[in-house]
Amino acid sequence: MKEVAVVLFGVGGVGSALLRQIVNGRSAIATRNQIQFNIVAVTDRQTMLWEPTGLSDAQLLDAVAAKTQGLPVDPDYRGERPSTRVRPSEIELVQQVTDAGLGPAIFVDVTAAEGMEPALLLALNLGHSVVLANKKPLAGPWETAVPFYNHPRLRHESTVGGGQPVIATLRYLLDVNDPIYQIEGQLSGTLGFICTQLDAGVPLSQAIAEAKAKGYTEPDPREDLGGQDVMRKVMILGRMAGWPLEASDIEVESLYTPDLANLTVPQFLQAASQLDEAMAERVAEAHANGQVLRYVAELSEGSGTVGLKPIPANSPLANMKYISFRTGHYSDEPLLIGGKGAGVEMTAAGVLGDMIGLVRES
Ligand SMILES: NC(=O)c1ccc[n+]([C@@H]2O[C@H](COP(=O)([O-])OP(=O)(O)OC[C@H]3O[C@@H](n4cnc5c(N)ncnc54)[C@H](OP(=O)(O)O)[C@@H]3O)[C@@H](O)[C@H]2O)c1
Repeated sequence: MKEVAVVLFGVGGVGSALLRQIVNGRSAIATRNQIQFNIVAVTDRQTMLWEPTGLSDAQLLDAVAAKTQGLPVDPDYRGERPSTRVRPSEIELVQQVTDAGLGPAIFVDVTAAEGMEPALLLALNLGHSVVLANKKPLAGPWETAVPFYNHPRLRHESTVGGGQPVIATLRYLLDVNDPIYQIEGQLSGTLGFICTQLDAGVPLSQAIAEAKAKGYTEPDPREDLGGQDVMRKVMILGRMAGWPLEASDIEVESLYTPDLANLTVPQFLQAASQLDEAMAERVAEAHANGQVLRYVAELSEGSGTVGLKPIPANSPLANMKYISFRTGHYSDEPLLIGGKGAGVEMTAAGVLGDMIGLVRES
């Protein structure tokens, strides 16, 4: 049995699902893969749980329950007289794990935080492994992101396609020297939901409010509507394909106008009705041509676009989340990966699969 120390940065939707899957799957993972994951540290924004021999399942499930109620992972920070101790920074934690002599560990970033790059890079340089669901380290300026591409001890299946084997497929195409010509896809479940609401005649502002009420959007729906998350995903695929893209190489269409950018979330939801008329006109024009609007990312060498695109209403692509690769071998008909929109469980399963894959190959 291989015992592997794991550090988890972030216990939100994905981090909580991952901890549940590890706890509930312990015996299956041990039987099938001969791996025992010892979660030695779990962090949220302010606090941390640390146990170099591995946190107990009860401690891990308590952390999950606490985060569900909006409480810190560390019990000392809850209650009437919360601790004021400051948790170590991510860099200090990487050093702490190394100094504790726990062997090569896996650092899992399931935050949506900026600025994780130095700690993740230090972990790799000290011989540890990294698994990302956080896209930001891979989608920042090329200069800071480049060390994370093609690194033998870094996996990031869940950054695109939420656990569907998109990254694994692209990696396979690259391994067999199949040149990538074009990448296309509907990469946002949230925007997919909004587009199908628009098809049904729902005004944009109402579709946004409904997506938010169902928990499909980020707390601020503009993070989805602005297209930056889709841009990051397609940029990751393009960079893997060998194109050193910068954000400025990808034209992104935002579904809200700049004058709504600085409002509070409630103000934005109120003001979003001013977007309804123009959007309804675009939807009607597409319908008149037997088409529907979908939020599509398209990328080929050096540049790409992300935005609304009319596609035939009877196309299977109108109703699924998909990614397609047009390559040397798949030049007439692209290689297509499709399915229903991902959720936290599939995303967490993608992270767990990466963790197991890293140990298997070590
Ligand atoms: N949700 C999905 O279906 C999905 C699919 C694919 C990819 N992803 C990606 O997976 C990541 C996590 O998504 P999520 O839905 O789980 O997000 P979330 O619910 O917002 O959770 C984020 C967690 O990260 C913590 N955090 C933020 N900054 C941190 C830091 N510097 N150090 C440690 N923890 C920090 C937050 O702590 P606090 O609780 O203290 O704020 C929170 O626990 C994101 O990058 C997202 O884009 C998500």
